[in-house]
Amino acid sequence: MRIPEHKVDEIRAAADILDVVSGFVRLKKTGRNYTGLCPFHREKTPSFNVNPERGIFKCFGCGKGGNVFTFLMEIEHLTFVDAVESLAERYGIALEREGGSPKESREEIEAMYVANRIAARFFFDTLQGETGAVGREYFASRGWSTDTQRTFGLGFAPNDWHAFLQYARAQDLNDDILEATGLIIRKEGGSTYDRFRNRVVFPITSVSRKVLGFGARALAADEQPKYLNSPESPIYNKSRILYGLAQAHRAIRDQDAVVLVEGYADVLSLSQVGIENVVATSGTALTPDQVRLLARYTRNFFFLYDADSAGLNAMLRGIDIILEEDCDSRIVQLPTGEDPDSYVRKHGADGVRAAIAQAVSFVDFITDRFRAEGGLDTPEGKTQVIHRIVDLVARMDDPIRREFYIHHVAEKYGIYESVLYRELEKELKTRGRKRIAAPPPEVSRDHVPEILSSGDIPKEEKRFCELLILAPAEIKTEVLHHVRIGYFHDVRIQKFLHVLLEQEEHEGKIDIDALWGYVEDDVTMHTLLADMMMDPIRPISDWSQKQTVTPTDERRVLLDAYKNVVRLTLEHRANTLQQRLKHEQDPLLIERFLQKQRLIKIDWDGISAFENIPDFETEEL
Ligand code: UTP
Ligand code: MN
Repeated sequence: MRIPEHKVDEIRAAADILDVVSGFVRLKKTGRNYTGLCPFHREKTPSFNVNPERGIFKCFGCGKGGNVFTFLMEIEHLTFVDAVESLAERYGIALEREGGSPKESREEIEAMYVANRIAARFFFDTLQGETGAVGREYFASRGWSTDTQRTFGLGFAPNDWHAFLQYARAQDLNDDILEATGLIIRKEGGSTYDRFRNRVVFPITSVSRKVLGFGARALAADEQPKYLNSPESPIYNKSRILYGLAQAHRAIRDQDAVVLVEGYADVLSLSQVGIENVVATSGTALTPDQVRLLARYTRNFFFLYDADSAGLNAMLRGIDIILEEDCDSRIVQLPTGEDPDSYVRKHGADGVRAAIAQAVSFVDFITDRFRAEGGLDTPEGKTQVIHRIVDLVARMDDPIRREFYIHHVAEKYGIYESVLYRELEKELKTRGRKRIAAPPPEVSRDHVPEILSSGDIPKEEKRFCELLILAPAEIKTEVLHHVRIGYFHDVRIQKFLHVLLEQEEHEGKIDIDALWGYVEDDVTMHTLLADMMMDPIRPISDWSQKQTVTPTDERRVLLDAYKNVVRLTLEHRANTLQQRLKHEQDPLLIERFLQKQRLIKIDWDGISAFENIPDFETEEL
C-alpha cells in the first residue's frame, strides 16, 4: 500500500519525535537539542541528538539519522509503511486502509474520541456559562485559578438529566457511541440520561491530548460516590491512564523525575504552584503499564501519597512494580492525615519541595518501617526483614545496583552482608533471573556501514544542498530549475535533487520537512536528510536571522556554491581524462580533456547568473 504524501506528512507533523524516541532513549535537554546514549551503537558518552523543532535525530557517533519514521524503522525493524501506520495509530490519525476488517472498530473508536472531545467542550463551556456558577464557586473554594482550570480543561456537568444528551444529539452524535463512552446511561426500558450531573468534571487525556474519559466530583461533601468516573471502554482503560500526563510529560522529562500522587486534586494543586512533573494514579494501585508509560520519560519515581493506610499499601505495591520495570523509587513522607493537596495549601511549593528533597529510598522506607515496629529487635523479625529486602533487591536487573543496596542495608541496619547475599542467591535462583538484555552490538567509528556515512559526500555538494534547504521557497524553486543534476558527483546528492524536483512537480512547492514521503524505505536518504537538517558545522547558520541578506544575495550565495560544485566536477573530469590519456591516445578524449581545461580557466567570478554557467557533457566514458 502506498500512503499519500500529504498523509505521511500529516502523521509526521502530529508525531512527537521526543515522545517516540523517549520510548527507547533517556534524553536530556542540551540547548536546542536533546541528547542521549545512541540506541544503535554502544557508547558511554551521548552523541545521539534529537532536534524536536525539525523532528529529526542524528547520532554523531555511528552516523545514523533521520526523522521519526526512520527511527522506528531502524529500532523496530519496520518498513516505511509499517512505521507510518504505527505512528498513525499512536496519534489517532485515520489511514484509508484497503479491505478493512479492523475498520469497523477503528471507526467506532474514532467516533468515541469525537464524542469525548465534544463532551469535554460542552462541560468546559457550561462551566463558563450561567449554570456553571456553582462549579466556578467550587473550584474557587479549592483555590484552583482560572488558569489551572483552563490548563486542565476542567468543566461542569449541569444538574439536569438530559442536558448533555440533547446537546450531543444536536451535534449528530449517536446514542450507541455515547453509551459506549459512558457519557450516557441507557436503562433497560430504553430510557437514556446523562451519567455526569451536577458535578465538576476533570477530563482525562492522553499525551496526544485525546480525551479518554472523565472523572467527575460531587459538590457536596457527603454525596456518594465522591468521584464518578467513565466506565472501562476501548478508549478508557484505567490501568493505562495517568491523570495529568499530558500536562506533565515535558516537565517529567526535563526534570528526569516524576511525582506520583493519588488524586486529581493533588495534581491540580501541585501543578498550580509550579510543581509540574506530577501525575495521579487516580485511586488505583500503580500498574506495570503505567510504569512503562512513565519510564519513557524518566526512571525516577517519587511517591507522594496520602499519609493514611490506604496510601501506604498502594505505595508498597507500587514499589515492587517500579522495581520490576527497572526503575527507581523514593518515598516522600507526609505528616499523618495530610495529602499533597492539603500539604501544599499549608506549606506552599517550598514546603513540598523540601519534603521531596527528604525522600527516602524504597529500601530505607521499608526497613525503617520494620524498625519502627520493633521488627529488628528479635531474630524472627530480622529474618522477616531480610526476606522482604532480598525480595526487593532480587527484582533489580542490574547486579551493581543489587550490590549497592545490599551493602547499604547491611551497614545501616547492622545485618551481615554475607547473610543477605546468601538469601539473594537463593531468591535469584528461584526467579531464574529474567531479562538479562544483551547490549547492542559494538559499532566503532571505523565500522559504520557504508550507507550510513554521508561524511564522504564532497563538501561543496553538501554545502550547496544545505544552502538550498535554507533558502526561501521561491528561490529554492528557481535555483533548482537552473542546476544540472548531472554536474553533481555524488549519487545520493543526485537522488536528493531528483526528489526535490519530484516534490516540486507534485505539489508545486518544495517543503523539506515533507520530503520523507518521497524517500520511503531508502534509509540512506533519511540519513542524508537528517544530516542536512542538523549539521554541527553549518557554513551559514541561518539566513533568516540575517536581516541584511536580500534575495539577490541569497541567489548570489547559491550561485557561488553551485559554481564550486561545477568546477569541482570539471576538475574531477579533467583528472579522470588525464589518467585515461596515459593509456589511450584517443583524439576524442584529448578534445574532451582540453575542453575541461579551457572551462576551468574561464573567468568564473565574472559569471553572474545561473544561465551563464557553461554547458559540458557529463557522461562518464
Ligand atoms: P481521594 O479521596 O484522595 O480524592 O481519592 P482527592 O483527589 O484527594 O479529592 P478531594 O481532594 O477529596 O477532592 C484519590 C483518587 O481516587 C479516585 C479519584 O481519582 C481520586 O482523585 N476516587 C476517589 C474515585 O475514583 N472515586 C471515589 O469515590 C473516590
Ligand atoms: Mn486525596
